Amino acid sequence: MHDAAFLERALALVRADPLRAYPKPTVGAVVVVNGEVVAEGVTEKGGRHGEVVALDQVAGKVAGGTIYVTMEPCSHWGTTPPCTERVLAEGLTRVVAASLDPNPEAAGGLDYLRERGVTVESVDCFEARALSEAWRTFVAKRRPFVAYKVATTLDGHVTLPGERWITGEASRRLVHELRACYDAVAVGMGTVRADAPRLDARDVPTPHGQPRRLAFGRGPLPEGSELELCTGPLADELARLASEGVQSILLEGGPTLAGAFLDAGLVDKVLLFVAPVLNGGDGPTAFPRLGSVARLSNLAVSRIGDDALIEAYVNAP
Ligand SMILES: NC(=O)c1ccc[n+]([C@@H]2O[C@H](COP(=O)([O-])OP(=O)(O)OC[C@H]3O[C@@H](n4cnc5c(N)ncnc54)[C@H](OP(=O)(O)O)[C@@H]3O)[C@@H](O)[C@H]2O)c1
Repeated sequence: MHDAAFLERALALVRADPLRAYPKPTVGAVVVVNGEVVAEGVTEKGGRHGEVVALDQVAGKVAGGTIYVTMEPCSHWGTTPPCTERVLAEGLTRVVAASLDPNPEAAGGLDYLRERGVTVESVDCFEARALSEAWRTFVAKRRPFVAYKVATTLDGHVTLPGERWITGEASRRLVHELRACYDAVAVGMGTVRADAPRLDARDVPTPHGQPRRLAFGRGPLPEGSELELCTGPLADELARLASEGVQSILLEGGPTLAGAFLDAGLVDKVLLFVAPVLNGGDGPTAFPRLGSVARLSNLAVSRIGDDALIEAYVNAP
C-alpha cells in the first residue's frame, strides 16, 4: 500500500457517516508502521478526535510511524487537548493530511509539527474538504453553507401545468434524506404563497432532529404555518442563523429568492434534479437572470430513478 491508499482508507472512515461527530467535523485517521496499518480511528460524537481514537489503540508502540488524516491535526485546546501534542508524544515521524483546518483557532497543526521535526505532507483532496463542507464554510465564513436544490423539467422550468411534482418518487425521497442532513431548509415567500410547503424531513431517519424551516420575505405567513419568517437582508439573516448554530441551509427556491442568494454570492452548491419531461410553455425557470456569469466546479451527475441529479459548486469548500 502507498500514501494514496492509506489516505483513501482514512477518507472511507469519514464517508461512512460524514456527520457522525456533528456539530464538530468528522476526521478519519490511519496509523501505519513499516507499511502496515496498525490502527484506525474516526472522531467520536462529543468525544475524542479521530487521531486520538486511533492512537489510543496502539499507545507507546508507534514511534517512527506515519499517521494519515483527512484533516490536519488540531493544535489548540478546544473540547479536547491538541492532537499535535499526542502525535509528538507518540514519536510519529510523518503526518500526511488530506486537507487543512479552516478554523482559525485550531489551524496550523502541520506547521507546528514541521517546526518540531516531523515530516508533514499536505495533500489537497477535494473529497476531504467536501465531506465537511458545511462545517468548513460555517467556521471560515461565519455563515451557513447554502445548497440550492431545485427540481426542473428538461427545458428548465420549475413548474409543470396540472402536476404537483416534477420529479419522481426516488428524487423526492432523496430530498427528504437531504433535509435530514441540513440544519435548516428555506424557501421564499413566493413559494409559501404558491405551495405552502411543510419542508420537514418525512419518512426518513433524522438523527440530528428536524431541520429549522425558514421562509424569506416580508410575510405574512399563512395561519398555522410552522415556518420561521426571515425578514432581514440575506447576509444579515445568515450571520444571525450562524450565531444560532445553523451550519447548513438547503435552499429549496423558488427562483426569485435563489437568484438573490446567487447574486449575493451566498449559494455554495447547486443540486439540480432534472426530470425527463418538457414543460413546453412559459413560467419560471430554475435560474433567473443573474448579475454576472457564474462558472461552477466539481460537477457530479447521477441517476435517481428516472431523473438526473446534477451537483456542482459555486464556492467549493
Ligand atoms: N421546482 C422546484 O424545485 C420549485 C421550488 C420552489 C418553488 N417552485 C415554484 O416557484 C414558484 C415560486 O417562485 P418565486 O420565484 O415566485 O418565489 P420565491 O423565490 O419562493 O419567493 C420570492 C419572495 O422571496 C422573498 N425574498 C426575501 N428576500 C428576498 C430577496 N433578497 N430578493 C428577492 N426576494 C426575496 C420575497 O418575499 P416578499 O414578497 O414577502 O417580500 C419574494 O417575493 C412557485 O410556482 C413554486 O411552485 C418550484
